[in-house]
Amino acid sequence: MSSTLLTGIAELTTFATDGPDVLERAALVMEGSTVAWVGPEAEAPDADERVDLGGRAVIPGFVDSHSHLVFAGDRSAEFTARMAGEAYAAGGIRTTVAATRAATDEQLTAHVGRLVQEMRRQGTTTLEIKSGYGLTVRDEARSLAVAAQFTDETTFLGAHVVPEGDPAAYVELVTGPMLDAAAPYARWVDAFCETGAFDVDQARAVLEAGRAHGLRGRLHANQLGPGPGVRLAAELGLVAVDHCTYLDDADVDALRDSGTIATLLPGVEFSTRQPYPDARRLLDAGVRVAIASDCNPGSSFTSSLPFCVALAVREMGMTPTEAVRAATATGAAALDRDDVGVLEPGRRADLVVLDAPSHVHLAYRPGVPLVSSVWMGGRPLTPFS
Ligand code: NIG
Ligand code: FE
Repeated sequence: MSSTLLTGIAELTTFATDGPDVLERAALVMEGSTVAWVGPEAEAPDADERVDLGGRAVIPGFVDSHSHLVFAGDRSAEFTARMAGEAYAAGGIRTTVAATRAATDEQLTAHVGRLVQEMRRQGTTTLEIKSGYGLTVRDEARSLAVAAQFTDETTFLGAHVVPEGDPAAYVELVTGPMLDAAAPYARWVDAFCETGAFDVDQARAVLEAGRAHGLRGRLHANQLGPGPGVRLAAELGLVAVDHCTYLDDADVDALRDSGTIATLLPGVEFSTRQPYPDARRLLDAGVRVAIASDCNPGSSFTSSLPFCVALAVREMGMTPTEAVRAATATGAAALDRDDVGVLEPGRRADLVVLDAPSHVHLAYRPGVPLVSSVWMGGRPLTPFS
């Protein structure tokens, strides 16, 4: 197995389980697809190959634990209307459902491929992809089959909205034949627990049916207003609950006590003009916080975790180090992954080299393409693929 030594690392952000988060003047050795050694440059062991990074910073590859990449169509007109003062309405999801049902498998696959490329160029090395714009047995199963070509972290979101007809009958469909067809392609099951989507009993029914099929639960909750979704996620011991924009003290206590990760999606608040979630309050209460893009055509059409990190620092009270951790190590935890998100021996050698001396520049220099190169499994992505 061949080894590569990366030198000239001005600052190496590791988020290592033991030891400091950040090392200065560091080096890293990769052996095959994993990290073999991390430490001060002066103590670096020899390797088959040597790459001098010329004083750049290195961080773990971003882990985007929440995205909806399988869709067709465009909702930029809705965005323009929101920027002119209209409110976000989750009902816009149905517009994308119609376009997605009309697209061919090849069109959907090509579109997901383009978005994954976009993510890679911005440093995302692990990502989750949900279904949820098909909402028929056939269209949910094929959405997940497309997603599974790009990631193992696939999530069945048949319970996104009720596409048409009677809600109770739709929940029967989601928990019955749709789940049967989707489960072979999915690792996770999710539901949108919100007024206008699914209530807490319906969300519970979907998560329990998913669990009976071997799928693990995650949940969209408390995005558009207060509600019982976050407490349901805590009660069921889900690994993560996502959005968490409107929380009361009981919600925060429940998250702390359950250990459920609060995944915040600041691209949504940027794009809907809602108030940002209060990450500081959660962190100070001892809740674990992840950040993800929620990349979707309605509420957050960004694929950029650097952008989300900058928003989290500017608008949600996180330090730059906390925000980068939330988009790497805690994002990995939100997918229950212990092989990525951290740079220490034994982890996958997935990392991002920044055209900057420190990870702080991700927030300090918003909108600047700072990703110099991306390495996945010990190999550089060139060109990005
Ligand atoms: O995560 N919250 C529900 N689903 C998406 C929005 C989907 C859409 O508007 O198309 C979200 O924000
Ligand atoms: Fe979402």
